Amino acid sequence: MESFDWKSLGFGYRKTDYNVRCYWRNGEWGELEISSSETINLHIAATALHYGQEAFEGLKAFKGKDGKVRIFRMDENAKRMQDSSDGILLAKLPVEKFQEAVRIAIKMNKQYIPPYESGASLYIRPLLIGSGPQIGVKPADEYLFMVFVMPVGPYFPQGFMPTDLVIMRGYDRAAPQGTGKYKVGGNYAASLVEGKKAKHGGFSAVLYLDSKEKKYLDECGPANFFGIKNNTYITPLSDSILPSITNKSLMVLAEEMGLKVERRKVPYEELPEFEEVGACGTAAVISPIKRIYDADLDKEFLYGEKPGIWSTKLYNKLRAIQYGDEPDKYGWTEIVE
Ligand SMILES: Cc1ncc(COP(=O)(O)O)c(C=O)c1O
Repeated sequence: MESFDWKSLGFGYRKTDYNVRCYWRNGEWGELEISSSETINLHIAATALHYGQEAFEGLKAFKGKDGKVRIFRMDENAKRMQDSSDGILLAKLPVEKFQEAVRIAIKMNKQYIPPYESGASLYIRPLLIGSGPQIGVKPADEYLFMVFVMPVGPYFPQGFMPTDLVIMRGYDRAAPQGTGKYKVGGNYAASLVEGKKAKHGGFSAVLYLDSKEKKYLDECGPANFFGIKNNTYITPLSDSILPSITNKSLMVLAEEMGLKVERRKVPYEELPEFEEVGACGTAAVISPIKRIYDADLDKEFLYGEKPGIWSTKLYNKLRAIQYGDEPDKYGWTEIVE
């Protein structure tokens, strides 16, 4: 194993020793298999390649001060993959099988789990693909589920820092009644052009408006959006955004901290009213936003150079639960024995 400078790892692919696979053939799931190969042998007519019949997940495991490894809300990821499967007609993987595959992938690669002090974590990537051949647009008759893991560095190696978002009405990642609420590859392919443009302009992500009327906030690239005003945590309710597990957790914590929580349509006009805004997701927990630039109207909304009080509190609280620094009274973490 190469030795890692955990802090400078960043978020990128790293080879680890083993991955876990499971095939769906003749109408049923087989046994979990362990592989040391980074590649798969795939039919040239697999539906994942031609028609995007593919769903994935992203979650993390954390090593605590006590040396224990905790996986965060894995059951939620397993259920979300089942929802994605319903959305694009993939064979549905039982929750228990998903969980067992993740546990095995972590245990088999335990030397890659970053130490507590590094602030880094082990990223877990489950994916499910249509592996059987079709040339007509139809679901496959064979599926392959895989889990691989890799160490990823702390999202904020220089400390918890706000970034900028951009609004560009010329791009949508998902149609109003399309697949935006599923974690399927096609949505991400559809976001690459504007994502690249945003990065090029110095923004961390695109803040999408609803694709039907462009009146309401949807989400930010690969993260949900929230705003805080008048002691209220407000996050968009929309059929075309991914139900973020981080956001779901933050809503619980916000309420417990005494904030009111509102999940509702958030009109664009509300942007100047927020005292704090942030993007939330597995990658960063919370990425505070200091500026939203509306590229079509050449207008900007400013939220301060430093992370807001509530964003900081929520970030610290959720991370403390993930790393086991604070007791998990919600049953969100599972210790890998
Ligand atoms: C489009 C999109 N929205 C939101 C999120 C955040 O979801 P979660 O908190 O479950 O990571 C992600 C990342 O998974 C995403 O890809």
